[in-house]
Amino acid sequence: MLNIDLNGKRALVAGVADDGGFGFAIAKALAEAGASVCVGTWPPALNIFLNMLERGKMDASRTLSSGSLLTFEKIYPLDAMYDRIEDIPEDVRTSKRYKDVGDCSINGVGERLVADFGERPLDIVVHSLANGPEVKKPLLEVSRGGYLGALSASAYSLVSMVQRWGPLLRDDGSFVSLTYMASERVIPGYGGGMSSAKAALESDTRTLAFEACRVNTISAGPLASRAASAIGIIEKMVEYVSENAPLTDKLTAEEVGRVAAFLSSPLASAITGNTVYVDKGYHAMGMAVPQTTG
Ligand SMILES: NC(=O)c1ccc[n+]([C@@H]2O[C@H](COP(=O)([O-])OP(=O)(O)OC[C@H]3O[C@@H](n4cnc5c(N)ncnc54)[C@H](O)[C@@H]3O)[C@@H](O)[C@H]2O)c1
Repeated sequence: MLNIDLNGKRALVAGVADDGGFGFAIAKALAEAGASVCVGTWPPALNIFLNMLERGKMDASRTLSSGSLLTFEKIYPLDAMYDRIEDIPEDVRTSKRYKDVGDCSINGVGERLVADFGERPLDIVVHSLANGPEVKKPLLEVSRGGYLGALSASAYSLVSMVQRWGPLLRDDGSFVSLTYMASERVIPGYGGGMSSAKAALESDTRTLAFEACRVNTISAGPLASRAASAIGIIEKMVEYVSENAPLTDKLTAEEVGRVAAFLSSPLASAITGNTVYVDKGYHAMGMAVPQTTG
């Protein structure tokens, strides 16, 4: 039988703070395939996440097909805005959510992985995070800071991870990230420079595939995750895609999780530098489907 076998592999999924987004579904799919999974969680969301885990609030979604619960080997505080501890501004470092988490920079998480598991601790890295401080503003109104903030959190973070965590990968290791078609087509409402950040992420995926290691990005259809709800129009986006895509059932995070597990597996050993659409085929459409009324 041809199956996705990730036994003996270790994954780090960066961008998990609840059970509603792509990162959680990817972590679960990787665990279903046999990988041990560590996650990176944004410090402002860390305590709520740990509390929810502890109080069993996510037990239903953590249940694997074997009946056991998805467990994270480690949960690392991670702020992907910062490459090294020195980059974290003093006021952030000493603030309530950061003062007890230690070095949550990308470099710091790499050092912790090596301390916990040895020199080359990883096989799979998943970049499942994005942030655009001015996402609700149209590009025409976005400030320089808002634009660069979106690029920094959502695109440069991948470059920095490949720089710092690439050397921690064992042979045949790979990266996968999440992008959105606003990079190449206009999605009204997906503002704040986030469309530019996704374009950069896709372009960097190609260049990093040449320069560094196997790396792909999944262009996912809309999902009402916590991050997407911040955009303010996610329900409309989900509805629009299900009305106009070739496949009309709504995209689930699990469907994206399975593709990420495949791309991270030896079965995908010849796929790199790719933007892989997991969007019910919506990207292929050139015209909205006329809606029947009544
Ligand atoms: N939901 C959608 O409709 C959709 C569609 C296509 C692509 N995506 C992409 O999928 C990825 C995951 O998003 P999601 O929609 O599943 O939402 P999500 O809320 O599950 O994930 C986003 C995560 O990013 C984390 N984060 C934000 N800033 C961070 C930082 N500076 N450092 C570390 N972590 C940080 C948040 O805490 C959160 O856990 C993102 O790249 C997003 O752009 C989402």
